[in-house]
Amino acid sequence: MTLKKGQLVEVEISSIAFGGRGIGKYNGITCFVDKTMPGDKVSANLTKIKSNFLEAELVEIISPSKDRQKPKCKYFGICGGCQLQFMPYEQQLELKQQQVKDSFERIGKIKNINISKIIGSENIYYYRNKMEFSFGYDAKMKFALGMHLPNRRFDILDLEECHLESEFSAKIVNKTREFFAEKRLEPFKYTNGSGFLKALYIREGKRTNEVMINLVTSDNLPNNAEKIMQEYADFLSSDEIKDNDKKVTSIYWTMIIAKKGVPKTSKEFLLYGNKALTEKMILEDGNEMVFEIAPQAFFQVNTFQAEILYSQVVRMATNKPQKTVFDLFCGTGTIGLFLAKHAGQVYGIELIEDAVKVARENALKNKTFNIDFFTGDVDKLLKDLKEPPSLIVIDPPRIGITQKTVKLINDFSPNQLIYVSCNPATLARDCAWLLEYGYKIKEVQPVDMFPHTYHIECVVLLER
Ligand SMILES: C[S@@+](CC[C@H](N)C(=O)[O-])C[C@H]1O[C@@H](n2cnc3c(N)ncnc32)[C@H](O)[C@@H]1O
Repeated sequence: MTLKKGQLVEVEISSIAFGGRGIGKYNGITCFVDKTMPGDKVSANLTKIKSNFLEAELVEIISPSKDRQKPKCKYFGICGGCQLQFMPYEQQLELKQQQVKDSFERIGKIKNINISKIIGSENIYYYRNKMEFSFGYDAKMKFALGMHLPNRRFDILDLEECHLESEFSAKIVNKTREFFAEKRLEPFKYTNGSGFLKALYIREGKRTNEVMINLVTSDNLPNNAEKIMQEYADFLSSDEIKDNDKKVTSIYWTMIIAKKGVPKTSKEFLLYGNKALTEKMILEDGNEMVFEIAPQAFFQVNTFQAEILYSQVVRMATNKPQKTVFDLFCGTGTIGLFLAKHAGQVYGIELIEDAVKVARENALKNKTFNIDFFTGDVDKLLKDLKEPPSLIVIDPPRIGITQKTVKLINDFSPNQLIYVSCNPATLARDCAWLLEYGYKIKEVQPVDMFPHTYHIECVVLLER
């Protein structure tokens, strides 16, 4: 039977693929359908036809899975975030556990390993400490502040509420929209480069209740731009905006400067309060650290789950005494800093210069002096380190590490490796390479940092 794009098909969903799409069969061919879960019977429009798989867009749920739950968010299915909100949290965790196992077995061809039970998040809403909202126009061309709609770069979902950061953060979004709509300022248009307002970033210290606002604009300045921005800062820092326990502690204005043929630059103006946001982390070994987070700096997005993730790293690292530890892909140095208490010396390597600057400041702030950071590519800098490490920690971006990194790691021959990963697929591939050099997987600990999304974080201990 010939299949055609746009054809309506009926599919019973039996499992979920990595990335969150439901999987079923149509005419014996695997068919992926978005926004579905095992047990759903759906009708869907074919959007892609290949000899060994089909993709289809959900049209209607003919009969829902018995486990389906009503999503908490009124924008579910429109905004594109929190893709798994229709699935009970326990089931989301089972799914992630299974996906870690599948990645090791199918991609890494690694079987019979001990994968510990995934550690779920106590807070399944309001867990993020950072959100970005965009200015633009909604589908009715009304001034809007909210989320970019998936697959439609320029339409904005005008967001009144969001369960990811806090009620206070939603209040700031609503007050910001109100303020700028009244001033009749134009959102920036990517199509022709006109307009002023680009984005609103809100960061929250989950342990400190500090709040940082960063309003990002273009350099198409309206009349009285400085006066208006100062008025905005006065308004947001006023008593009207205060929450019982949270308060705005810094307000920045970041102006993006774009000139034809020249890379974009930016200027930052502190309009109110502190230069940085302070966040605290407390690990299970009782170790507490304070971090100063600048507007553009990277910081783990779920503070409480990051504490759990790092506690797992510390637990695995402290089963043996550590003389020298390498923290590869160290970002702002958080993992290395927590390990420094348990090691003789720690060396961190990170590509981004600004992150290393922050890492050094973090070390000073937390009076940790047995740690040094180097700026550059891991593959280039690793060979320059001289002291043989007893442990190497690897926390790469989603793409994982290269075979060259694996070889360089092996040249140091550490007894222990701890691999922190946000992508089970590249984790499984990289572990398979490490096994070729004689390492054995001792433990795999998945941690759920992002409830209602398909993201999975894992900590793996390898030894030889
Ligand atoms: C997943 S983050 C880890 C951050 C840090 N370990 C933490 O927990 O906050 C990955 C880091 O690797 C850095 N990075 C990416 N490619 C790199 C490379 N080739 N060499 C060194 N660092 C790199 C990124 O800038 C980013 O800070």
